[in-house]
Amino acid sequence: MARLKVGVLISGRGSNLAALIAACATASHPAEIVLVISDRAEAQGLDHAARAGLPRTVIAERDRRAFAAAAGAALLRHGVELVALAGFMRVLDAGFVEAWRDRMINIHPSLLPAFRGLHAQRQALAAGVRFAGCTVHFVRPEIDAGPILAQAVVPVHPDDDEARLAARILTAEHRLYPLALRLIAEGRVRVVGERALIDGAKTPDVLAFNPCEPLVPPDD
Ligand code: GRF
Repeated sequence: MARLKVGVLISGRGSNLAALIAACATASHPAEIVLVISDRAEAQGLDHAARAGLPRTVIAERDRRAFAAAAGAALLRHGVELVALAGFMRVLDAGFVEAWRDRMINIHPSLLPAFRGLHAQRQALAAGVRFAGCTVHFVRPEIDAGPILAQAVVPVHPDDDEARLAARILTAEHRLYPLALRLIAEGRVRVVGERALIDGAKTPDVLAFNPCEPLVPPDD
């Protein structure tokens, strides 16, 4: 079966891009990355793309509509079927988002809909939540909104600072994003009424407590 052609948009470090590249590296993976676009020439993530021998392009256009036009043309030229935002830091033109509706995904370092926007990990610490995590969702014009495809949960520890929490979440991101991509590439995901439905989704049967002191046994 033909592999799903993916275009990845980045702005910086590109560790999620690296995770996606690694996941797609096996020929049996149902997706392949055919283009990496960065809006910054100095984005470290471009090195990951270069090492993997992937087509890459820098579109440093500051104007939102001009960026959308250039990115849209590049994506079409490479036959991209799904766009994955991976640390892409710019607000996208609404028309571009609409053109890629249900064909563009993003990863965000919080359990959405909590803590949208910048510094999600800092927001989680400030709110005192006991669990944090990350979300892969379909992109809508509103920032960090759209049908949720997959989430991973990590505990918040009492001595966490932003960097420690961010690192724990990032480890989860690197597993979650490839998983979400695989589900889409396998043709198992549909968006119905702003909810993402996954055919044959296996869901966990676990209960997590934080703190996890010995618990009172449940009544029989
Ligand atoms: C990640 O935390 C991602 O969730 C957020 O931006 C960060 C990008 O990191 N959208 P990287 O560039 O993939 O390393």
